[in-house]
Amino acid sequence: MAKRVVITDHVFGGLDIERETLEPLGAEVVLAASSDEDTLVDLASTADAMLVCFAAVGAPVVRAAGENGCAVIARYGIGVDNIDIPTATELGIRVTNVPDYCLDEVADHTLALLLCAARQLVPANLGVREGDWTIPHGNVHRLRGRRLALLGVGRIGSRVVERALPLGLEVVGYDPFLTEPIPGLIQVGSAAEAVREADFVSLHAPLTDETHHLIGPELIAEMERAPVVINTSRGPLVDPDAVVAALAAGTLSGVALDVTEVEPLPDEHPLRTHPQAVVTPHMAFYSVEAERELQERAADEVARALRGEPARSPVNDV
Ligand SMILES: NC(=O)c1ccc[n+]([C@@H]2O[C@H](COP(=O)([O-])OP(=O)(O)OC[C@H]3O[C@@H](n4cnc5c(N)ncnc54)[C@H](O)[C@@H]3O)[C@@H](O)[C@H]2O)c1
Repeated sequence: MAKRVVITDHVFGGLDIERETLEPLGAEVVLAASSDEDTLVDLASTADAMLVCFAAVGAPVVRAAGENGCAVIARYGIGVDNIDIPTATELGIRVTNVPDYCLDEVADHTLALLLCAARQLVPANLGVREGDWTIPHGNVHRLRGRRLALLGVGRIGSRVVERALPLGLEVVGYDPFLTEPIPGLIQVGSAAEAVREADFVSLHAPLTDETHHLIGPELIAEMERAPVVINTSRGPLVDPDAVVAALAAGTLSGVALDVTEVEPLPDEHPLRTHPQAVVTPHMAFYSVEAERELQERAADEVARALRGEPARSPVNDV
């Protein structure tokens, strides 16, 4: 019988890469009609393998897959916080990710957001579109000598350091698990210390219980220079209500977000139109090249599992 590969959701131009990789192995590729839990439980109960983008693959979905002997849940991406890994491990289902397909893209996007906020490009460009030709006085400061704080200095954070130093930024970083020094980075011992004198705060940590709402009232209260907060990591690291309140109070001067707690950001959300907010649609990972590599590598993890071969990038030990 044909093996069944269930794709829970995707954001790509098409699924030709998956079909070209998996159909020659006798596999049928099925895309879920929606990614609500009931639909995914139904489909998972027929899955020999799963490919997952942003859909929530919690315990009920993983258990349904486990009952069908599903061999692998392959995440299209780096973060695996949307997959219940302990349950997958308990059921012997391999979980994989693609850890390094877009590191340059996300670091570039982080700098793009930082420069966009620092140079006030959004209000300036909106003004021009409306027939205006006025310099946004007061809000633009010389970048050289300003301080950027990174919370999380792993693969992406370290690439942000490389890009920020030539701009003349002073870069401080807090990462509790950093073992090697990073050239040019001033390492500090706490998130509060990192943000205290920062003009920009950029997040590059995974979503965990510790990092959930890391940018909230408590850490914002430590920030003495009303910085711009940049988030290209995971939306729930930032408490959106705290950010809206801090913008109103002037304790933050701006936010630049590629990821938000709820995605898409709801139509009526104040950050969609706030003059000091720049929001992009979770696209930091994207380039033509990165997207192709992502699809190829995730599909390859499924092919490996179906052929009984070891994973290239396992995130659990089964
Ligand atoms: N926006 C996008 O399109 C996009 C694309 C790829 C990755 N991401 C996200 O970017 C983030 C970073 O990815 P990466 O590849 O650099 O991961 P990584 O694992 O290489 O680095 C993450 C770093 O965060 C550190 N960390 C863990 N807990 C921390 C804490 N409480 N405080 C400070 N640091 C902490 C870790 O020690 C690690 O060094 C992840 O959240 C990932 O999901 C987003």
